[in-house]
Amino acid sequence: FSDFLTDTFNRQHDYLRISITERCNLRCLYCMPEEGVPLSPPAHLLTSPEIFYLSSLFVSQGVTKIRLTGGEPTVRRDILPLMQSIGTLRSKGLRELALTTNGISLHRKLDSMVEAGLTGINLSLDTLDPFQFQLMTRRKGFDAVMKSIERILELKALGANLKLKINCVVMRGLNERDILPFVELGRDKDVEVRFIEYMPFDGNKWHKGKMLPYHEMLDRIRAQYPGLRKVPGHKNDTSKTYEVPGFVGRLGFITSMTHNFCGSCNRLRITSDGNLKVCLFGNAEVSLRDLLRKDNGGLPIDEEAFEALKRVEMDRRQGLLGEGTALGWGERERELLEVIG
Ligand code: GTP
Ligand code: 5AD
Ligand code: SF4
Repeated sequence: FSDFLTDTFNRQHDYLRISITERCNLRCLYCMPEEGVPLSPPAHLLTSPEIFYLSSLFVSQGVTKIRLTGGEPTVRRDILPLMQSIGTLRSKGLRELALTTNGISLHRKLDSMVEAGLTGINLSLDTLDPFQFQLMTRRKGFDAVMKSIERILELKALGANLKLKINCVVMRGLNERDILPFVELGRDKDVEVRFIEYMPFDGNKWHKGKMLPYHEMLDRIRAQYPGLRKVPGHKNDTSKTYEVPGFVGRLGFITSMTHNFCGSCNRLRITSDGNLKVCLFGNAEVSLRDLLRKDNGGLPIDEEAFEALKRVEMDRRQGLLGEGTALGWGERERELLEVIG
């Protein structure tokens, strides 16, 4: 394992999240205003060859998992060829290639993505009610998302190595009634539904009162499913995993607001404009894009990237040394959302 990916807390950063666009085809209440977010000039964004180059660089240093995120990654027109090229890194040590998506346009490209080596889909869906969907996303599209889910399950049944997780952000007074139907989904479907504590960002009219803490969600589920039990998760999971005996699927809770999981964080992040960020709670970023473009396409950048990474080492520890949960978040909310994307 390369030193450059091991930090002073001995955390090995083998999971790289790459945001491939800032754009999105939905306008979820808790994420984007109706008018969307200010977009970077196209020339500031990483091109697909640049994303591929950085992916290979990180895989050569020990990264084994890459997740493509956004915005909504499927709105990037060349997502398929990009995924196909990253998929070739399987022969170089890449073990997982994953996607975080809202599923709206996924079904069109899904089969080819799986052929290209896609192994995991985290699909954002906050409700199983079409009207509530339109209310929370400010757009239509529920049926399209369902179509994507059906196709994922079909491909899994046909033997595809494809993990499905549904990310459900729970907001008090909005979709709390969806918790139990989502649990029920796991009775006969191989899906992990993860309930996410809503993070109230500044400049977003929803506030802390809308946050439903993990323990409250757990109590409500347990009242209906008394057999609910905790199961050991994987080392670097952001979520706590549960199961209902007899159910095919599982449940998870992402407790960004009430519990800190920094100690086991193994993530590196590249924003769509090419900044490397090591910690959500730190400020330091390094522009890998500028390093890449310095001398008219002056690849390779290895030495410089490694040096730059050392400079942000202190920042990488921020989450461990300071505020460990999202409660202390402030004015950088937009940046953070892109990184979480
Ligand atoms: P897997 O573990 O591969 O399933 O994915 P993931 O949970 O890392 O990724 P996903 O894109 O599905 O993110 C789900 C949620 O996890 C996001 O909404 C964030 O709330 C939270 N999250 C992801 N990465 C971090 C992180 O580094 N720190 C914190 N605090 N939250 C994160
Ligand atoms: N609070 C909690 N989760 C959020 N996400 C986006 N914004 C927020 C927020 N304010 C979630 C999305 C997606 C995941 C990557 O991040 O719903 O599932
Ligand atoms: Fe990882 Fe930093 Fe978030 Fe902790 S605070 S989970 S170290 S990104």
